[in-house]
Order: sequence, then structure tokens, then C-alpha cells
Amino acid sequence: MIESVPQRIAHLRGEIERHNYQYHTLDDPLITDAEFDALFRELQTLEIQYPSLASSDSPTQRVGAAPRLTFSKVEHRSPMFSLNNAFSEAEVKAFDVRTRETLSVADVEYSVEPKFDGLAVTLTYRDGLFVQGATRGDGVVGEDVTQNLRTVRNIPLRLDSRQLAEPIPLIEIRGEVLMFKIDFIALNRQQAAKGDKLFANPRNAAAGSLRQLNSRITSNRHLSFLAYGAGAAEGFILPGTHAEQLEFLQKLSMPVPQERRVVNGLGGLLGYYREIGELRNKLPYEIDGVVYKVNNISQQTRLGYVSRAPRFALAHKFPAEEALTTVLDIEVQVGRTGALTPVARLAPVFVGGVTVTNATLHNEDELRRKDIRIGDTVSVRRAGDVIPEVVSVLLEQRPVDTCEFNMPQTCPVCGAHVIKLPDEAIRRCSGGLFCPAQRKQALLHFASRRALDIEGLGEKLVDQLVGQQLVHTPADLYKLNLLALAQLERMGEKSAQNLLDAIEHSKQTTLARFIYALGIRNVGEATAKELASYFATLDNFISADETRLQLVPDIGPVVAQSISTFFSEPHNIEVISQLCAAGVQWPEQAESAVQLLPLNAKIFVLTGTLASMSRDEAKSRLEKLGARVTGSVSQKTDYVVAGAEAGSKLSKARDLNVTVLDEQQFMQLLNQNELSSAPG
Ligand code: IVH
Repeated sequence: MIESVPQRIAHLRGEIERHNYQYHTLDDPLITDAEFDALFRELQTLEIQYPSLASSDSPTQRVGAAPRLTFSKVEHRSPMFSLNNAFSEAEVKAFDVRTRETLSVADVEYSVEPKFDGLAVTLTYRDGLFVQGATRGDGVVGEDVTQNLRTVRNIPLRLDSRQLAEPIPLIEIRGEVLMFKIDFIALNRQQAAKGDKLFANPRNAAAGSLRQLNSRITSNRHLSFLAYGAGAAEGFILPGTHAEQLEFLQKLSMPVPQERRVVNGLGGLLGYYREIGELRNKLPYEIDGVVYKVNNISQQTRLGYVSRAPRFALAHKFPAEEALTTVLDIEVQVGRTGALTPVARLAPVFVGGVTVTNATLHNEDELRRKDIRIGDTVSVRRAGDVIPEVVSVLLEQRPVDTCEFNMPQTCPVCGAHVIKLPDEAIRRCSGGLFCPAQRKQALLHFASRRALDIEGLGEKLVDQLVGQQLVHTPADLYKLNLLALAQLERMGEKSAQNLLDAIEHSKQTTLARFIYALGIRNVGEATAKELASYFATLDNFISADETRLQLVPDIGPVVAQSISTFFSEPHNIEVISQLCAAGVQWPEQAESAVQLLPLNAKIFVLTGTLASMSRDEAKSRLEKLGARVTGSVSQKTDYVVAGAEAGSKLSKARDLNVTVLDEQQFMQLLNQNELSSAPG
């Protein structure tokens, strides 16, 4: 019988997908690569000849589609949860005990599987057809990576429903996208040959490949998928245990982990952990632990969720890998805020899937505690994506001539004095805007979108401006001209003019943005807004001392101290006045609302019991009038309100000569002032 074109196309699609499954999921090819390619090319040709017969579930779609600019957002039908982690047997035991107690059973059956070290995705199939794939995102909303997932050869474009008794109107399948070790090695070899950047480990390679805006690149990257569960199911009922659900997914031609088991009780869990631990290096993909799930779904439902993680499941992680190496040097880095961080330069060592050449020593106390010295043999650890760290020193291998490392007294970058505040573990460079290490970051922060918003002033440009000594402080930005800019690398006249326009534009700002842009330690955007609305003018703000600063809502002693340290550096005041002289300005604010309040800046302490209102109510009424309510009496206290059975605070107030109000006087004060500050 001669096939019609649509029949031939359907036949080819079926055959190609069947061979994809044999090859990628079962690892059992039935035909040669050349035979497969011939089928594929025949289908491609037919689809080009008959465009109306093209379809999104055709295997030809696996080669990727046109590049896109962004990924759109997708809300998951049911949330994608994360897992609680356990690192010890004791934690696993506690999990099992809790589970048994909650369910009131003597023994629990668990479904167990490896914890894949990849990226979580969800696949949606409607009437058996793969219609959407998304990343986990924040668990509620992820990114639509459908095109990219279509290129993953072991993800079926159509579910195999031949063994099913009823149709599947809609199912979400959850699992992990990962790169097999062998594909990772091949990819890095390819990257090296092209002179492109190497990926640190298979997880990063998988993530980088899946989040490609150009799915043709993803298509060449050999990603794999493994399903570990189902999300939403509509129009049919999923089996009643997790193990049966995985079985069910497998029947649909979904790849599921072959290392899964069903075990009983704590003994079963720990036995599985050991089994997989021994198998770990032989597995074709990387895993970072095992996952235990209560097998029975109705028991799962009874256990439920706490915040983002199910109470019915647990990830038992393998210990972070450690390796030995030597400390070649200890260097000190200076961050944007001037913080000095010691860093160990190490002889390269392969650990936790990457080659490590340096490790953070966190801060001076840590360095002292571990007594790490140049020349030492150390054990370094790396887990997941965290920065590698030195775990310990092998003292017996310490060379004879080492000496303790001391933090420098002057900044290694600018030579300014290094200061250490009494309540801080870290030392800081006092060079502020002078210090090149801080200067670049200070400029980037100053120009950032939520600060003065100078479009186009990015890292590369700042590097050049600072490198060529054209800009030292933010105020210098306003002195730039076309001539100076046009001589910079990759800077045409047009982009130079655009930058000048953006700088000019930034002069019209708000006080809050300006305060934020200064990059004062601990003063983020929200604090800057509070400060601007409280002080209304820059002068008021600059001249406020620490006590006054603490009257601003949400500002405590630490923030107040960083602000006053910032303004006590004359250089900072100079930069601010240069900025104002250059024309940076903001609309005048009316005298701040807070300052006009009748009890503005007055400090109250409440003690004893009031008959007419709760302490919370008294506090909130006082605060609405601009007052600040604190817990202890001091010289700075303006009033102590003494209710019935007032104790030591009252006697302290008397000792310090602080005005004491009884309940009647307090009510009078409240009533009068509330009247006087009422609107209208
Ligand atoms: S189940 C309701 N099973 O681990 C439970 N997750 O730390 C949801 N992961 O986002 C997750 N292997 O990316 C589950 N066998 C496995 C897993 C697994 C890896 C990842 C997954 C999840 C993360 C949570």
C-alpha cells in the first residue's frame, strides 16, 4: 500500500521518536546513526515541501527555533517546592521519628531516589502533547523554556499512551535537567578547541545551556532529563504511591531514575544512602545526595508542607568534598565598602567538580582562629555553588620557617590607614572615595538605576575613566566633555554624546536618590527614603548627630554610626559640595512632616500599667505625634510615663531628674497634642 504524504510524515515522526527513546532513554539503539539520519532528513524534506503539515511535536523541532530576546514568565499550576536538607544520620532519624509520630504508625514505607545535581523543570502535557516547559524560578513563577526543552532528546514530545486505560487531559511532570558527565567532558573539549570559556561543572553547563535564548545552541549541548514526580493532574487520577507514579511516568515513555527503590524505616533509608554513596562515582551523572519521600500519597497529604518544603520528604546530602593543597600566598582584597578580606592563593586542586585556586579566609578572626600560614598544607572544601573555603591546616606538615600572617595596617590598594571599629570583625580602608578599589564601585553605585540613574555608565566605561584618571570621584563625572570621552576605546562621538546627555539628565534627581547614591555603608534605598523624608533638606541630614539620626524610624545605632563616620571624612563633604556646585539638585521638600509634629524628637519611656489603654496603644499614639518610645531611662529621656506599680524606671527617672507624668497628665498631653496636630 502506498502511503499518502500525511501518513508518511506521521509514520516517520513515530519511528524517529521511537528510536530517540531507544537511544536516549533505554540506551539500546535498534538502528545505526546513519539510518536514523536518513529518516530524519526525509521528514525534514517533507515538512519543508508541505509547510501546512508542520507540527510542534515533530522531532524536527528538536533542533531549536529562532533566538528570542527574553523568556516569558509562567505561573506553575501547582507550586514547585524545595526540600529540607539533612547532613547527618541524626537528622534523618529525627525525620523518621517525626513522620511516624505524625502518622501514628510503627513503620513508614519510603520511596527513595538520587538527588540529581541539575536544574528543576516542569513539563506540561495536554492531551499527551508537550505544550510547555518551565524552570522552577521562585517555585510559583518560572521562565518559559519550552523551545529549549524540545531540544532535549529524551523528553518525549508526545506521551506514549498505548498502555493506558484512560486518556490524560493534562499532566505536569517534574524533574531535573542535567548534563551527563561524558557530555560535559565533550562539551568542554569543544569549548577549549574554539577558545571559548570552559564550564566549571556539569550543573553549570546544564544551566548555561538551558537558559540560552538561542535554542539552536541548546540543541547542540546534549542535555538530559530525569523525572522525579508529577505536579498537577487534570481529568484523570494519578496512582496512590510515589513509586507507582514513577512507574506510570515510565510507561508514558518518560525517563525516570533506575536507581529508585522502595524501602522501610530508618534502616532502609540509611542503607540506601550507603548504597548510592558507593555507586556515586560510577553513575553517568552527578548527584549530591539522595531524596527520601513517604511513598503513600495520602500519607504525604496528611504530613503536608512547612513554608516552601514538604514535611514528607527529605534530601540527605553527601558531605562536601574536601581535598589537600598548599597555600602559595595570602592576599588581601578590598571591597566596595573598603572591607579587607584575606584570600588564600592555592596550588590548583580539583574538588567538588571544579579546579580551585583560591579560597576565602572570611576575615581576620577566622584567619587567626585557623592560623593559616603561607606554605601550609590545608584541606579545602567546596559544596554546591559556595565559595571554596579552607577547613583546616595540617600542622604536622607545616614547614619550619613559616610565620603568622598579619593584616596590613595600610590599604594594599591605596595606602590609606586601615581602621577597625570595635564592634566589627573586619578592618576597613579609610580611603573612601580616594581608594581606587572603592572608587570604581562607588561610581557604579552612584550611576546605578536606583541612584542617579546614568544610563550607559557601566563597568567597562568606569574602568577606563578611572584607569585614565579622567574620573576620581562622582563629582568628576560632571566635568567630562566630548573630547575627553571620544578618545576612549570603543566610544564613538554618538555614544559619547549620549553619555553626556545621560549625565546632564541625572542632575535632576530627588534627595532620597542622592542620599542613596552616596553609598554610605548600611544606607540602602529604603533607609535613604526615610532619611530624606525625615530631614527634608541635605543640610539637616548632614548636621544631624547620632542621637538625632536614631530618631528616624528604623534607624538604630549601627546605621547612625556609619552615617556619622561617613560625614566625618572631610573628603566626602567636599565631593558632596562639588556635586551640588555642578548642578545636581532636587525639588525642595516642604519642611518634613515629621519635623512639624508636636512631639517631634521627644523621647518617652513607659512604665507601670495604664488604666485607660494598653502600652502598645500608648506607644503608637505617641509615635504618631512624632515622639520616640524607648525601653530604658537615660539622660536623654524627656518624659517617663508612670502608670500603676511603676518600678525601677520610675526611681531612675527621679534620680536623673527626668520629668515624670502620671496617667492623668499623660492623657492630657496626648489629648492636647492630638487636637493641635489634627488635619485641617
Ligand atoms: S523532589 C516536593 N526529587 O532538589 C518535592 N527533587 O532541594 C520536590 N532535586 O528543586 C522536589 N533530585 O531541583 C526531588 N529526586 C529528586 C530530586 C530533586 C534533585 C532537586 C530539585 C529541587 C531541589 C530541592
